[in-house]
Amino acid sequence: HDVPERVSTGTLPAPDLVEEFVEEAHQRNQSLEGGSVADYIPALADADPNLFGVSVVDVSGDAHDAGDTDHAFSIQSISKAFVYALVCEELGHDATYERVGVNNTGMPFNSVVAIELNDGHPMNPMVNAGALTTTSLAPGTGDEQWRWIWKGLSAFAGRHLVLDDDVYRSERAGNQRNQAIARLLESYGRIEKDPLEVVDVYTKQCSLLVTARDLAVMGATLADGGVNPITKERVVAPHVCRDTLAVLAANGLYERSGEWLFEVGIPGKSGVSGGIVTVAPGKAGIGVFSPPLDDAGNSVRGKQATAFLSRALGLNVF
Ligand code: DON
Repeated sequence: HDVPERVSTGTLPAPDLVEEFVEEAHQRNQSLEGGSVADYIPALADADPNLFGVSVVDVSGDAHDAGDTDHAFSIQSISKAFVYALVCEELGHDATYERVGVNNTGMPFNSVVAIELNDGHPMNPMVNAGALTTTSLAPGTGDEQWRWIWKGLSAFAGRHLVLDDDVYRSERAGNQRNQAIARLLESYGRIEKDPLEVVDVYTKQCSLLVTARDLAVMGATLADGGVNPITKERVVAPHVCRDTLAVLAANGLYERSGEWLFEVGIPGKSGVSGGIVTVAPGKAGIGVFSPPLDDAGNSVRGKQATAFLSRALGLNVF
């Protein structure tokens, strides 16, 4: 049936309407078929394809949930958005722009060719090359970097996040491609720290467990200018949210980012375990989770549920 269309205003509709549409976003897409669960990381291949959760947390901290919003899964590439914000806060606008870049590659997230075609530039922080570069820019080395990132991502979520050791080990045993990308970036002078140590920290950040509800809180923190609406802690500065959201709009769904902006009209970031975080600036964060992915690595049900909510709640910024 038809999707209710609402024109974007400065505020979210009333909470009971948000609640109703979150429920409807879940119901409409629960039996949606298509996509397949990621299997290039063995520990992800076991995920139950029927899991599906939709959560919206607004900038005042009110939460609306439907489905499996408490199911924990590894954050994977969604970590890239929040580590980027933390590194932006540390390095500032110009240095981050120069070191990591902001432009789309038009290529898959783990492309090596994209690096070669761009004279060794990682291009943007949402593909693996740029994410590894971003992680390398966290203060300190090795364990210090990991602890700094872990603490920062936990502050975004408003709770102490836990590492999934099985996912970490599984990914560590099979991440030769990321090691190759890190070495290639080193050869171009783009990674100045030990590249294999950087890959290890990146693999850990991807293995942190979150729920769809956590993603909504993390997104709401970016929507709220850097203040976590649940804990009230300032995690990053307002200008960092602006930079991060611009980069997400351009690159959050990889080579499908244009399509996403066309259909959803607000910045989002997907991960290969089936999560997507979406940010409606000044309004709310949306967290969705459903493991089956399209061929670019984006959750099939998650995309549809988010597109529905964007229309029904009037979130599209255009
Ligand atoms: O580096 C990797 O391949 C994974 N840790 C994360 C990839 C990912 O989530 C891409 N997402 N769609």
